[in-house]
Amino acid sequence: MARINDHYLKLAAGYLFPEIARRVKEFAQAHPQARLIRLGIGDVTLPLPNAVIEAFHRGVEELAGQKSFKGYGPEQGYGFLREAIAQNDYRARGASVEADEIFISDGSKCDTGNIQEVFSLDCRIAVADPVYPVYVDTNVMAGRTGPYDGKGRYGGILYMPCTEENGFVPELPEERADLIYLCFPNNPTGAVASRQVLKGWVEYARKNDSIILYDAAYEAFISDPSIPHSIFEIDGAREVAMEFRSFSKTAGFTGTRCAFTVIPKELAGRDAGGGRVPIHRLWMRRHTTKFNGVSYPVQVAAAAVYSPEGKAQVRRLIDAYMENARLIREGMAECGFKVFGGANAPYIWLKTPKGMGSWEFFDQLLAKANVVGTPGSGFGPAGEGYFRLSAFGQRADVEEALARINRLKGFFVPERI
Ligand code: MLT
Repeated sequence: MARINDHYLKLAAGYLFPEIARRVKEFAQAHPQARLIRLGIGDVTLPLPNAVIEAFHRGVEELAGQKSFKGYGPEQGYGFLREAIAQNDYRARGASVEADEIFISDGSKCDTGNIQEVFSLDCRIAVADPVYPVYVDTNVMAGRTGPYDGKGRYGGILYMPCTEENGFVPELPEERADLIYLCFPNNPTGAVASRQVLKGWVEYARKNDSIILYDAAYEAFISDPSIPHSIFEIDGAREVAMEFRSFSKTAGFTGTRCAFTVIPKELAGRDAGGGRVPIHRLWMRRHTTKFNGVSYPVQVAAAAVYSPEGKAQVRRLIDAYMENARLIREGMAECGFKVFGGANAPYIWLKTPKGMGSWEFFDQLLAKANVVGTPGSGFGPAGEGYFRLSAFGQRADVEEALARINRLKGFFVPERI
């Protein structure tokens, strides 16, 4: 028998969202009459914008013509899309990013999960707690951590607790980390990082020779003009950070698949002899070896997000989800829940009532209101006692879910928490 990768056996449980899906399926089978409302996984529900659909069709048509047909494309993405990103997402905000520093991919989940491959196994990683589980699980799989402690943590990882006291924004650690995963606007808490906070992180990374892995998949949901959308809006970030972005939540691409990673040419690690090695070169090698690019029509469709019509239509999508976020935030607060996030992010983070555990609240909400959310403890031990609701549902469903919870508020929240 072939020897397996033992590190997989360290993984504490199934991946969070399939586990939720399993419980929901079980409930639905036992209660076929229940109309479930899903505000769990952050999956979009509104159709792709027209400008995107038209471009998608054009891309497909080109594949039907002998002259315009395309086979393999460049693994790192077509120039037209990389240039549109560099211009619209970065230069337009005063951040200097070149098209050839952008790697198009099929998702930020894959990119944030795969990036650890180009770093040594003895790199120390720092993550927020609670955290998007992909960052941790992929490092466990690679063998960069010690065993699971049975309480939600793995040995060797530097966890940075995010609590009500620190506004769910991790504090600069006293210890040194090689790789720091940051996600703003944050999944799961909906917290955002001010310019000052990001400056602090860039300074920390410069001082400690660390690399920041900045996940900005939700940047489009920022409405406060003082909040940076990119780590590259901060001076000095190009030498110490890379950034992950996605069309998934911004433009409804969760099923269509398109994202990108920005790796500045200045960003470097060191080899065994202490020599400086650009990360761009390593990621280029990895990407071109293990990936054959996003399909041409999808890249044409993604580029349409930056057309004037595309921008306006994407804006309307985001506004619709952020209106849901407002309804959830205000509706849950009216029911007596203590709520966070949801102002510059599509996630609402709430404190579970009566000191209930996160999974207990998940089960109660499912059983009593037939509403699906995400237990905070699924994102790490500091998420215990919290619960995440996603604003990506349809408005009528959001309203119905809130009405159901409101009718049950005596059960959930007998008095203010
Ligand atoms: C979430 O619900 O946290 C997201 O949908 C996960 C993801 O984007 O992979």
